[in-house]
Amino acid sequence: MAVVHIDALDHEGHGICRVDGKVTFVDGGLPGETAEISVFRKHPKYDSANATKILKSSSQRATPKCAHYGRCGGCVLQHLEVSAQVAAKQRILEENLQRIGKTKPEIIMPALYGPAWGYRHRARFSVKRVDKKGGALVGFHEKKSWFIADMQKCEVLAPHVASLFMPMRQLIPTLSNSDRIPQIELAVGETSTVLVFRLLSPWNEEDTAKIRAFADRHGVEIWVQPKGPDTAVPFYPETGALLQYSLPEFGIVHPFRPTEFTQVNPHINRALVHRAIGMLNPQPHDRIADFFCGLGNFTLPIARSGAKVVGIEGSQALVNRARENAQLNGLSNVEYAVDNLFEMAPEKYAALGHFDKLLIDPPRDGAMELVKSLPDEKPPGRIVYISCNPATLARDVEVLCHVKGYELKAAGIANMFPHTAHVESMAVFEHPSQGII
Ligand SMILES: C[S@@+](CC[C@H](N)C(=O)[O-])C[C@H]1O[C@@H](n2cnc3c(N)ncnc32)[C@H](O)[C@@H]1O
Repeated sequence: MAVVHIDALDHEGHGICRVDGKVTFVDGGLPGETAEISVFRKHPKYDSANATKILKSSSQRATPKCAHYGRCGGCVLQHLEVSAQVAAKQRILEENLQRIGKTKPEIIMPALYGPAWGYRHRARFSVKRVDKKGGALVGFHEKKSWFIADMQKCEVLAPHVASLFMPMRQLIPTLSNSDRIPQIELAVGETSTVLVFRLLSPWNEEDTAKIRAFADRHGVEIWVQPKGPDTAVPFYPETGALLQYSLPEFGIVHPFRPTEFTQVNPHINRALVHRAIGMLNPQPHDRIADFFCGLGNFTLPIARSGAKVVGIEGSQALVNRARENAQLNGLSNVEYAVDNLFEMAPEKYAALGHFDKLLIDPPRDGAMELVKSLPDEKPPGRIVYISCNPATLARDVEVLCHVKGYELKAAGIANMFPHTAHVESMAVFEHPSQGII
């Protein structure tokens, strides 16, 4: 047990302090607080501790709204006011850009805000029949554990599905294959909501009747997934249509299968797309690449400007969806290709032809091979990079700014995942050799 002063917040939402000179990460501690801590794990270079008592509390400390806060591993920052969470994430971004990227943005863009609660339109719940607990557990994993949290409600899920846990937990033990359902995936669209049950063995007639009654009672549609995500099919109603989300500013509608990637927070997604398109400033004479394009979330808004757009993405299923959605939205100035962008190389990039501008939206691993492959002759004049991991963004920034000659014009965060430690951000680059474009 020690009494410490917390100096800062790390990228996982832990307070940071020093005990006899050794860095200690404190679960539940906030910057500016004095706390009693108990170390639960020692590492050669740092220790991990829990705050057992807050002796002097931060003015930014908030009362967590969720009854499962502290046990559920879903949200780790509910004890910090939302505006302070945003400021902390902005600091994490700037600190990564400076330390790893060795670069300071010319402008810090104001953070993009959306609703702090009820924002999440996608989730994957683990399922386990637990006879001792009187049925089944359906929920997120507990903090730092593979156990499933004993949950009744989730405050960050879309309100109409936030309380589905108990009905799902009551349903599961009544099914004949209750120990053969490891996961349920939730996807909320604008006109319907789907639960995809991962089934290791099929349902019988009696199960089917129960599933139908459950779906009707709770206003959800049911899909089943016997194997990988591509095997998911509608179960009830059997003619289940695709989900959809729209980007009204650009007159775009995106149908999607519940297992296909879409951004979890549709409110912030609209703001993010708006800002990305504003920063990219696509013109009818531009040829633009959208790398890691998914189903065309940014591709189609770019195409609305009249620019020619090439979307490249690793998943064949998403590219098929992207092609269908381009057609559905009446956009013919779009081409798509499937490629593994982690294996990009200069010759492969050159074969794509000249691009005036790029949008890059990679997964957590970043886009190192892609940025290393950008040409020295006639490079794209502007890049808008969307990132879900400030460490890999900063690593790529280092290459873009110190090897490829780009200037980091602006950077800022989008509060895509309130109460979690995830940091979504955007960075905008220009190449001075291409003038103002
Ligand atoms: C953060 S998502 C962005 C998707 C899209 N831009 C959007 O906003 O919906 C990252 C995308 O990268 C794709 N991806 C992951 N690894 C990849 C790889 N090695 N090569 C190409 N695409 C990949 C994923 O399938 C996913 O669609």
